[in-house]
Amino acid sequence: DWNMPDYVEESISRIQAKVGKDKVILGLSGGVDSSVAAVLIHRAIGDQLTCVFVDNGLLRQHEAEQVMEVFSNNLHVKVIHIDASKQFLKYLQGVTDPEQKRRIIGREFVEIFQQESEKITDAKWLAQGTIYPDVIESASSKTQKAHTIKSHHNVGGLPDTLHLKLLEPLRELFKDEVRELGLVLGLPHDMVFRHPFPGPGLGVRILGEVKHEYAELLRQADAIFIEELRASGWYERTSQAFAVFLPIKSVGVMGDGRSYEYVIALRAIQTQDFMTAHWAELPYTLLGKVSNRIINEVRGINRVVYDISGKPPATIEWE
Ligand code: XMP
Repeated sequence: DWNMPDYVEESISRIQAKVGKDKVILGLSGGVDSSVAAVLIHRAIGDQLTCVFVDNGLLRQHEAEQVMEVFSNNLHVKVIHIDASKQFLKYLQGVTDPEQKRRIIGREFVEIFQQESEKITDAKWLAQGTIYPDVIESASSKTQKAHTIKSHHNVGGLPDTLHLKLLEPLRELFKDEVRELGLVLGLPHDMVFRHPFPGPGLGVRILGEVKHEYAELLRQADAIFIEELRASGWYERTSQAFAVFLPIKSVGVMGDGRSYEYVIALRAIQTQDFMTAHWAELPYTLLGKVSNRIINEVRGINRVVYDISGKPPATIEWE
């Protein structure tokens, strides 16, 4: 029987003993695990830690600003912010296959992270927000060659060509313990209790070819959906919720004329383990409000649909 504040102190001492005066780099995604790892390590060794945050152009609205605000401005963690959106979009041009998009996004991330890490010439450690379920998962996939429906690329899986030693201070923690630790370390509640967000980001929520224009429309629609979920108390009652951009046009009426614009699908699910999931029975009034707002506020969208597919047979993401 242990308590979190004691665990924090112990963990900090362990990191200090391990790292000494060495420099450490960490790929910060803004997700719970890498965020908690970053603050914990920062508590232990301060400016010996440098975080690298790569904006791939497929993040949600204001995500990059929020990460910089929390880590750089509020917590005074050293963060290098790289805006690589143009680069990612360039490599994704003309690519429509979901798995190929994942591979490109994963490969580009590694490439950029590696370039940045090499600039911190005296770094000895690579820190990662690996948690206990990740440790188990990778152990079992090595032995039984798991049947993979989708390849999952997280900020992790970095190549050992960096010749860095691994620092993984969350390796023995479950997700709820990581969240508790995050709160104790002063991370904002909303950041600690965020829905999961896939590594390839909006790249797998824009069906087919990814374009800047599509990403902009999707970001606006998604932000409205999330805002209304939070305002109605439904964010906490769903395990994951997001908008999906469908690159097809349908006809609508606008004033005296016709419109011919894109479609947004809303997805909200409830699950324990993300292996199976139910679509969330959101109130019609809430869905109606979100639909009205998206159609009125997002120029280029004239139709909103709600996804009522369970997993299985559908997956949670559309790609
Ligand atoms: P699916 O769509 O397979 O999603 O039912 C299950 C969970 O995994 C997330 N997901 C991903 N996460 N990289 C990630 O880091 C990926 O490529 C990826 N694909 C799906 C998804 O958001 C859900 O939480």
